[in-house]
Amino acid sequence: MSHHHSHDVLVIGSGAAGLTLALKLAQQGISVAVICKGETNQGSTYWAQGGIAAVLDDHDSVDSHVQDTLDAGGQLCHEDAVRFTVEQSATSINWLLAQGVRFSQYETKQGEFHLTREGGHSHRRIIHAADATGRALSETLTERALTHPNIQLLTRHVAVDLIGRSGQCQGAYVLDRDSGRVKLFHSKVTVLATGGANKAYLYTSNPDGASGDGIAMAWRAGCRVANMEFNQFHPTCLYHPKAKSFLITEAIRGEGGILLNPIGERFMPRYDERGELAPRDVVARAIDHEMKRLGVDCVYLDISHKSADFLLDHFPTIKARCLELGIDITREPIPVVPAAHYTCGGVMTDMAGRTDIAGLYAVGETAFTGLHGANRLASNSLLECVVYGGAAAEDILKRLPGLSSPPTAPMWDESQVTDSDEDVVISHNWDELRRFMWDYVGIVRTNKRLQRALNRVGLLQQEIAEYYSNYKVSNDLLELRNLAMVSELIIRSAMARKESRGLHYTLDYPDQLEIAQDTILTPSNFAVPRQP
Ligand code: FAD
Ligand code: SIN
Repeated sequence: MSHHHSHDVLVIGSGAAGLTLALKLAQQGISVAVICKGETNQGSTYWAQGGIAAVLDDHDSVDSHVQDTLDAGGQLCHEDAVRFTVEQSATSINWLLAQGVRFSQYETKQGEFHLTREGGHSHRRIIHAADATGRALSETLTERALTHPNIQLLTRHVAVDLIGRSGQCQGAYVLDRDSGRVKLFHSKVTVLATGGANKAYLYTSNPDGASGDGIAMAWRAGCRVANMEFNQFHPTCLYHPKAKSFLITEAIRGEGGILLNPIGERFMPRYDERGELAPRDVVARAIDHEMKRLGVDCVYLDISHKSADFLLDHFPTIKARCLELGIDITREPIPVVPAAHYTCGGVMTDMAGRTDIAGLYAVGETAFTGLHGANRLASNSLLECVVYGGAAAEDILKRLPGLSSPPTAPMWDESQVTDSDEDVVISHNWDELRRFMWDYVGIVRTNKRLQRALNRVGLLQQEIAEYYSNYKVSNDLLELRNLAMVSELIIRSAMARKESRGLHYTLDYPDQLEIAQDTILTPSNFAVPRQP
């Protein structure tokens, strides 16, 4: 295969955001290349359980969904972005239905979609495909993309860095994992749809590739990032030595599940009058507090009072996975712990997905649109992927005719590097990073812990930079380099916020300031070690 590709549009990422955008362009006759670093279903989208928040019920309203989003977001959501997103929710669901996504329906009311409830929502408004909504979305959109003649979908291709000149993005350097070669992908427009960065934490609900690649690439290219301190911890991930990253959906609490401590006491009402359906930041902090208070490793989520048929119908994936591990959810509570789940901050964009760099867009979890504020409302993120994937596609369609093909950039130069002989450096640094991020930059923060984390990440970045300049790139090395970069952005953002708000809670500033402001980091303001 050639080492030089040229496309009108290069989409980096094959999750809900990237595929929505690619399909919407392809359906208008634009040819698009989509790359993903593993197989097509290895992003977070595939693993989404609960569903998609949308105003679909006659008793619900746009105003109510907007208000719930603003309330969860701790006065930091951008109201224009929230309203735009919610207003597009019904149209977005219709588009997904038209692509062939099959959502769950009421057994008794033919043709009517079942809407479930999650924390922070004042109505039942989550449309879902049982407890495997992401799989339904991912499989349908991937199938559509694979069969669309205008889309070239390349798996096992990892974007290394963006190519740019005179403030214009011109594509990306891309590692082909099978040949080990770094290729040049030229494009008039490049889209970052690379998902979040939750692998920065030791315990996470996210799949392995969630290493913040798009955020790190955009930052290195000169884009601003915002609100990186707001990392969302999902309250309930399965606690079991053999269960890596398995989520227990919030919809279980929406359908009546209660949280118990190991002495069998229901503790949430002591922390918040909304009990188990308080927003995520509140529930995760309550669990963290309860675990520390009692010195225990987990708490329990009990839904065993519901009938076995109901549980099989609504939560077949969770029921089966728990049973494999010896937990029968129809008879006993599920051991759960909070885990890093969602990156609320990201690459700053406008409402059409445009970043600070001409020709570069960011959509989905990689982007900061202002929708989520200090704490994302459950099931608003798949919605954001579809809404902004569509908005960016529309903007690209308008601009493409005025863009010319970029001039050729230099090929990737590997003449000064060799094959790595000590991969243990990567795995060691990867573990170390994720552990200190969990211990020092987790659910509860302090100035001292953040300073320690900043010192550690600086040392790691020096080692990584040295390794990067001496050895050939690999997927593991690229992910580590990006994770360290994004961790620094999370730590610096957390240090800049001198208050507790939403997902950012610090013992040194427990109160909330009167004026809510975004934390915006600008690349030129920091002496970040740059790599070649
Ligand atoms: P992803 O789906 O994460 O896709 C990222 C893509 O980018 C992948 O294809 C990946 O291979 C590719 N990529 C990354 N880096 C590179 C690179 N350097 N080069 C090439 N390709 C790259 N949200 C909801 O709204 N409702 C839910 O019910 C819900 N449940 C969730 C459950 C779980 C377990 C998890 C983890 C998340 C859940 N979320 C949910 C959040 C939601 O799934 C994600 O925010 C959303 O799917 C992100 O989609 P995305 O398209 O932005 O990125
Ligand atoms: C869940 O199913 O609990 C996840 C929902 C979300 O992250 O939006």
